[in-house]
Amino acid sequence: MTKPLVKVRDLKMHFPIYAGLLRRQVGAVKAVDGVSFDILEGETLGLVGESGCGKSTCGRAVLRLYDITGGEITIDGRAIGAEDQRSLRAMRPTMQMVFQDPQACLNPRMTVGAIIGEPLMEHTGLSGAERTDRVRELMDQVGLNRAFINRYPHEFSGGQRQRIGIARALALNPKFIVCDEPIAALDVSIQAQVVNLLEELQDSLGLTYLFISHDLSMVRHIADRVAVMYLGKVVELAPRDALYGEPLHPYTEALLSAVPEPDPAMAGNKRQRIVLQGDVPSPANPPQGCNFCTRCPKVMDICRKIDPDFHEVKPGHWAACHLHDLD
Ligand SMILES: Nc1ncnc2c1ncn2[C@@H]1O[C@H](COP(=O)(O)OP(=O)(O)OP(=O)(O)O)[C@@H](O)[C@H]1O
Ligand SMILES: [Mg+2]
Repeated sequence: MTKPLVKVRDLKMHFPIYAGLLRRQVGAVKAVDGVSFDILEGETLGLVGESGCGKSTCGRAVLRLYDITGGEITIDGRAIGAEDQRSLRAMRPTMQMVFQDPQACLNPRMTVGAIIGEPLMEHTGLSGAERTDRVRELMDQVGLNRAFINRYPHEFSGGQRQRIGIARALALNPKFIVCDEPIAALDVSIQAQVVNLLEELQDSLGLTYLFISHDLSMVRHIADRVAVMYLGKVVELAPRDALYGEPLHPYTEALLSAVPEPDPAMAGNKRQRIVLQGDVPSPANPPQGCNFCTRCPKVMDICRKIDPDFHEVKPGHWAACHLHDLD
């Protein structure tokens, strides 16, 4: 059995809200509010949910790009939840992030060679010539022409810029990469190429991914297991086929009912489209009981009083919903 590379337990990331003349803290945005999951070595865990539900915050918190409000994070056997940023530095090479907008995170005044080589400068003692060799190797790996090593980011297309971002993330041989909407900013025609590249790299380098996306079809393609987030919490987590085939949580059902069925043979017996009423509540002021109770088509009395436990309903299939409470 493969072992978990990443373990997250009851992770919380609350952003304080300050107000008034004295800038006193008057509340908190509970962007991530008690999230638990494992990611096995070499697997891709998809993280899906509507805009603002806390996916990016969760990904960044797992990598400790924030000082977290609470919970435990273990990556490759090392507990990093409470480590200070200085001791985390030594750990940074093992865990990396690929961002949505490659344009925004590539320094326009640096050449591609300098961008990809920067982590090597910071974390290794490689000589200039050795760094150039490694950068060329990385460019090959991500399908960039190594002759372009001295060009600047603006000379590349969106897809190529994302390849630069991926090469940079790979520079220090990470084990775990958080991909935060890595293809959302790209043309549809380019998206599949970048996804294929990420899959090839995973196979050849044995990488483990947390793949964040609001595109359920894409996640179905790339993920081994999928976690669904709503208002700061994971409401359901299951192997891909179980999640898409037999969703347990009404929120997952609603999300899936909005995904077009690609197989025309299946289109006839397509699930009925569930349209959720109302808006997502504010993460600064979540409802009492279950976070989804204000919009749930199957809401019961208990849902407005008691927050359901996130528990294993069937082997490997977790959900937080009173419909699936164990008696
Ligand atoms: N630095 C911050 N300070 C205060 N609030 C924040 C901060 N970062 C995120 N938030 C809030 O936390 C909540 C979750 O945001 P987050 O960006 O994690 O959502 P998301 O699921 O990634 O959304 P999207 O799909 O739009 O990227 C939002 O309400 C957001 O406004
Ligand atoms: Mg996001």
